[in-house]
Amino acid sequence: MVKAVVAGAAGGIGQPLSLLLKQNQHVTELALYDVVNSPGVATDLSHISSPAKVTGYLPKDDGLAQALKGADIVVIPAGIPRKPGMTRDDLFKINAGIVKGLIEGIAQHCPKAYILVISNPVNSTVPIAAEVLKAAGVFDPKKLFGVTTLDVVRAETFVAEITGEKNPANLNIPVIGGHSGETIVPLFSQAKPSVSIPSEKLDALVNRVQFGGDEVVKAKDGAGSATLSMAYAGYRFADKVIRAAKGEKGLIEPSFVYLPGVEGGDAVAKATGTEFFSVPIELGPSGAEKAIDVVSSANDHEKKLLQACYEGLKGNISKGVEFAQNPP
Ligand code: NAD
Ligand code: LMR
Repeated sequence: MVKAVVAGAAGGIGQPLSLLLKQNQHVTELALYDVVNSPGVATDLSHISSPAKVTGYLPKDDGLAQALKGADIVVIPAGIPRKPGMTRDDLFKINAGIVKGLIEGIAQHCPKAYILVISNPVNSTVPIAAEVLKAAGVFDPKKLFGVTTLDVVRAETFVAEITGEKNPANLNIPVIGGHSGETIVPLFSQAKPSVSIPSEKLDALVNRVQFGGDEVVKAKDGAGSATLSMAYAGYRFADKVIRAAKGEKGLIEPSFVYLPGVEGGDAVAKATGTEFFSVPIELGPSGAEKAIDVVSSANDHEKKLLQACYEGLKGNISKGVEFAQNPP
């Protein structure tokens, strides 16, 4: 029995992500929450012949509480997306408050749920979530995840285009750090199976992984940012969290977590100088069971990228913490 909740379920990510969760055989209840149209999306999905019972909630009639009650996993793609010319940090003003409000609801109604934050800027919204949960006395760092899977998915795809690998999903490439521009650091030297990237193609490849989001924002030309690839990536991560909760072993995926609360995280925090960071996480019934240190084995080129990552990340993290501790 798994109750999954999508907060922001009527949006560009929320709808396809909800569709994917509806066909997950482990999910027995799927609650869709949004400020608009969630009952309609829920009714539509409820006609699909899979186990999950689907319900839709709006803010009225205590809808957030109803949606969250008894939840095992809450996925949050609520908030505004970028338009051309914007950075993810430009979304902070609106999305910080949205995420704060939703996490307050989680703290009250389902504090033991796995929480998967998709809303940007992830580098700041996850620290906000942590602070809100801490203030409510219910913070379990093993259960709070910033979803950075799209960066991994992109790295797999773009590397396969270069190496000729027919199925990009056969590649396992750690992408670490944060989720914006230079804070995104792909570690091609640690790809499994190993890959050989021609040196003249390396910089462009790194840049494409770091700015893949901008590629989509530009192509959509004002109509938003990545939605379908994000729904795929968000589902891939949520499915792993659910399978790990059910006892499946060997499930590893990078995620942006609060390192001091995860086994192995202290060593990574020491190496990076930041408390929040994305590294490959071994998942289990308690959530993030182990943070895998891929930082210390980065090659010299990757170490240079990591320096730039740390600089950007620290500011994004403290901005989130400051917002949560001293709301405007
Ligand atoms: P969208 O505008 O299509 O959908 C967002 C939805 O959130 C809307 O349906 C809106 O009504 C809803 N919403 C707004 N306030 C809410 C609230 N308080 N409670 C519940 N729902 C609320 O946007 P989108 O394209 O789906 O993107 C959503 C977010 O995901 C953006 O912040 C975007 O930047 C981010 N994103 C993150 C990643 C990642 O890799 N982590 C990738 C793509 C997009
Ligand atoms: C992405 O990486 O596609 C998302 O973070 C959305 C964005 O704003 O680029």
